[in-house]
Amino acid sequence: MPSDLPKAIVEYFEQSRVALALAAAEGDNHLVLVNPPFSRLTGFEPEDVVGRNCRMLQRDAVNAEPRARLREFLSRPNQPNVRTPIVNFRKDGSPFVNLLYMSRLNSIDGRTRYIFASQFDVSRSQPEMLADYNAQLAATLGRLVPIADDAGIVVEGTLMTIANSAAIVAQAKMMLADLEGTPDA
Ligand SMILES: Cc1cc2nc3c(=O)[nH]c(=O)nc-3n(C[C@H](O)[C@H](O)[C@H](O)COP(=O)(O)O)c2cc1C
Repeated sequence: MPSDLPKAIVEYFEQSRVALALAAAEGDNHLVLVNPPFSRLTGFEPEDVVGRNCRMLQRDAVNAEPRARLREFLSRPNQPNVRTPIVNFRKDGSPFVNLLYMSRLNSIDGRTRYIFASQFDVSRSQPEMLADYNAQLAATLGRLVPIADDAGIVVEGTLMTIANSAAIVAQAKMMLADLEGTPDA
């Protein structure tokens, strides 16, 4: 655990029920913290991923459009958040479509201190599971605000509501079927 990471934020990540990751704002955005739901989702333990960039989950998937969206977010300090499905692989090699949310944890003076992220397997879900995850992530972000505030950190980017859970899930299932080479009927 990096010594400069506020202890209250680390503890909050540890007890959260949704997958969460935190990366350094500078350099190649190496991961500094992942929580138990992240490990359950991806199969990667903290010692596998901390210190590395999370793009390792993409293996050799092209992901041109989602990566461009993520790079755009990272290069624009005033953009509060980004959300995109992206093809990822678990440690055991099985693919999934990760609905990735990213936002910023800033210092009071507006500089980005950390990049915050949450992951969700949207390809093995039902629309109501996605709606439930979204509500949990919104609550997680809401409860993080006062905890971060105590540590002098501002949580940017309120979670956007998902208007079309069913469409997102249906599209992700088709993408997964393509990846697995099985008929999507
Ligand atoms: C905190 C954080 C968490 C991330 N989590 C994931 C992830 O779970 N899956 C993924 O494919 N990319 C993830 N990314 C995005 C990649 O690290 C990278 O930013 C993205 O692939 C675009 O850059 P690139 O084209 O240089 O790889 C994450 C990034 C950050 C900063």
